[in-house]
Amino acid sequence: MSKTETSTHHSLQFARHLHPTPLPADQRAALLKNPGFGRVFSDHMVTVRYHESQGWHDAKIEPRAPIPMDPASAVLHYAQEIFEGLKAYRTADGGATLFRPEENARRFQQSAERLAMPVLPEKVFLEACDLLVNTDRAWIPDGDGSLYLRPFMFANEIFLGVKPSSDYLFLVIASSVGAYFKTDAPAVSVWVSTEYTRAAPGGTGAAKCGGNYAASLLAQSEATRHGCDQVVFLDAVEQRWVEELGGMNVFFVFDDGSLSTPPLGGTILPGITRSSLITLAKDKGIEVREERYSIDQWRADAGTGRLREAFACGTAAVVTPIGTVRSKDGEFKIGNGGSGARTEELKAALVGIQRGRAADTHGWIHKVF
Ligand code: PLP
Ligand code: COI
Repeated sequence: MSKTETSTHHSLQFARHLHPTPLPADQRAALLKNPGFGRVFSDHMVTVRYHESQGWHDAKIEPRAPIPMDPASAVLHYAQEIFEGLKAYRTADGGATLFRPEENARRFQQSAERLAMPVLPEKVFLEACDLLVNTDRAWIPDGDGSLYLRPFMFANEIFLGVKPSSDYLFLVIASSVGAYFKTDAPAVSVWVSTEYTRAAPGGTGAAKCGGNYAASLLAQSEATRHGCDQVVFLDAVEQRWVEELGGMNVFFVFDDGSLSTPPLGGTILPGITRSSLITLAKDKGIEVREERYSIDQWRADAGTGRLREAFACGTAAVVTPIGTVRSKDGEFKIGNGGSGARTEELKAALVGIQRGRAADTHGWIHKVF
């Protein structure tokens, strides 16, 4: 049996130290009115420790608080850190659900393997998420909002030698969120980075590790400086093939109604939204190709009208139309520069399932309570 399989059935008892003074309801309601993304946090957090001599231990839920840390903690020097992102939704019957959390648990295990970290049992990942959503259920916003869970793990050995840490901390925190993009525009604009790349073959592009995001920030700042909402990365070898955005995958919609998206080849993140949209499109009889698409072809197809729509997708961004593509070579618009029918159709299908308004034909919905 592989390490992952052995650990899948592993379970832990979580100790409960509930907050003696959670935020009063009126203050919480004020924060939930317009939470934005990633600034409003719930009352609790889950923590689980790992030591190579003890395995996973000391699982608990406790009041959210700063983590005391030694300045020689390995993560502060060598960035051995991974994370996940998934959302809890409020259902019409007052319950709460998660969307395909097992996929996040598995991707977390794959990220851990790539970063030479211990593999957290899937069951512990799921129990930690459920426990936090259950405890902080009052923090799930109504309407279009959701409670964004951020599971993460970092190396915590006090040692400056370069090697995998012997000590780790796994946590889950929760943030009440609305839309990821602040813009009121019907579509976002993207900047194609021709100077910086995000991930090279053999690198960590397919892992959800903090280092990938650190490496994307300068290109993202360049995008912002050019008035764009997000950066688009090209492949590191030929600087030609569209890979993904700084924090989301990308899809293209053609005049025959078909879709294409860059293939998973180890340099892009295997998005759960990406995989769900491929399935939903195929359910509708829409052709989906996982194939390479060059920036030159993108520009040419937008010019002739062969390309009708493009959109970004991810947990935070859901499905967000791309209207304008800018680079040092100039700019082009996609379609009318706003959203399109195919993008809206796929978004509605996905959000319908996530929000419990459409039948969950693939068993993607995990009920928390
Ligand atoms: N690509 C990157 C770099 C991301 O950070 C994300 C967000 O998690 C995605 C793609 C989309 O992944 P998912 O749909 O699983 O959220
Ligand atoms: C997500 O969609 O969960 C992401 O990780 C994107 C970004 C917030 C990093």
